[in-house]
Amino acid sequence: MPGEQNADFPSEVTDLIKSFEVTRDLQYQIMERLEDEMNKGLKAALNPTAKIKMLPTYVTSLPDGTENGDFLALDLGGSNFRVMWVKIKNGKSKTCMDVYTIPSEVMRGPGDQLFDYIAEHLAKFTSYHNICEMCIPLGFTFSFPCFHKGLASATLVTWTKGYDAAGVEGKDVVPLLEAACKRKNVQVDIVAVINDTVATQMAGAFKDHNCVVGLILGTGCNASYLECTEKVEMFEGAKGPENFVIIDCEFGAFGDNGCLDDVRTDFDRDIDRRTFNRGKQFYEKMIAGMYLGEILRLAIIHLINQKVIFGGVLPEALQKEWGFKTKNLTYIENDTTQDLSETREILESFDLHPSAAELQIIRALSRAIWTRGSRLVASGISQIARRINTPSVTVAVDGSLYQHFHQFRELMLSDIKELVPKYEVKFHHAEDGSGIGGAVTAAVAVRQSRTGQNGQPHVPLQNGDCV
Ligand code: BGC
Repeated sequence: MPGEQNADFPSEVTDLIKSFEVTRDLQYQIMERLEDEMNKGLKAALNPTAKIKMLPTYVTSLPDGTENGDFLALDLGGSNFRVMWVKIKNGKSKTCMDVYTIPSEVMRGPGDQLFDYIAEHLAKFTSYHNICEMCIPLGFTFSFPCFHKGLASATLVTWTKGYDAAGVEGKDVVPLLEAACKRKNVQVDIVAVINDTVATQMAGAFKDHNCVVGLILGTGCNASYLECTEKVEMFEGAKGPENFVIIDCEFGAFGDNGCLDDVRTDFDRDIDRRTFNRGKQFYEKMIAGMYLGEILRLAIIHLINQKVIFGGVLPEALQKEWGFKTKNLTYIENDTTQDLSETREILESFDLHPSAAELQIIRALSRAIWTRGSRLVASGISQIARRINTPSVTVAVDGSLYQHFHQFRELMLSDIKELVPKYEVKFHHAEDGSGIGGAVTAAVAVRQSRTGQNGQPHVPLQNGDCV
């Protein structure tokens, strides 16, 4: 059982496990706090100081099945970067994609270098596939908080998730990408820039029109949802006929004003001090894949330093910051061997040689850490369901944590059921949603532009039939 504790553990261990506990009562309190913070973000007068920015997108229409054509999609935001070519026809899509790992020097070097890297791979992709890129509309999924002034305009508020490319914060990424494409001799027609939550929601809605929420549980954590236009005081775009706009909540920043300080531990504070975005994304830093492994590493070191485990000897291998990956928590949880030999193998790779009791301690600690993350995100989604307040709420979701950590996922689902029994919250796994959703959003933009529904001049965009 998640959160289960072993009475034989030394008190240092039980105290530590307790410090990660999120009780049902606390979950309800967190939901209330989140509601307040989200409301601040939506109000024009309070938004400048609000930590959860509730960023309005210009996405005011979901796919309706009439979108057709060929689209390019770029997906940047985690450790990988993807280029996709998506063919959309009669409510179905066919995708061809390339995936590249973003080198850390590109993530954190000069901004131009990052956009050159993107443009270079786009050029290679379009030339390899012989795509007449000039006439293919492109959707760019850029998974960072951005202010939008239109569908094809996104000004980066702040980098997150270890990205820190210089000279990009405060700038619109569309001209930056266009300039890089010019340098690399590749023609682009960027028709939409969206967050990965929004892309996932759009990819989900392409299959199931009821997807009113988008959720990413991966390297980072964030959600989007459909909000009535009247409630979004920061929205400056034209109202769509359906009278809603998708909000990129950026709820990873929940707690940045101190309102989750009772949940945070010294390990969370330590991690925050060592991140590029110090002082930001406190909620995300307790939940997302980028951080869970590091929290466990610090918690193990804490017990070693207290001489509770491993004879107080801290091996060099465990001292490497960010060296303990979140996938290890998945492996530890999935270890069904009688003697926890798989957990032992992981620990041995850090020069730790655990006794049977130490194996149990590490397993319990790991469970306490991911359980806290899962309970926190369950509170977030439950509160969004309350806001939407319809009997049934479908959440389109993607991300490595959701996909590969089934215990994390199952606990979140069962918690949501208990927290908001009034609503039937369903999950739709939108696989590759952040990429495909970029193409789907481009397709919706083209459809709206053709039918003159987007409040913008009717510009007939060509697409399709060019390969
Ligand atoms: C970013 C969000 C993004 C999330 C998931 C966060 O760090 O601020 O914009 O949606 O990660 O990728």
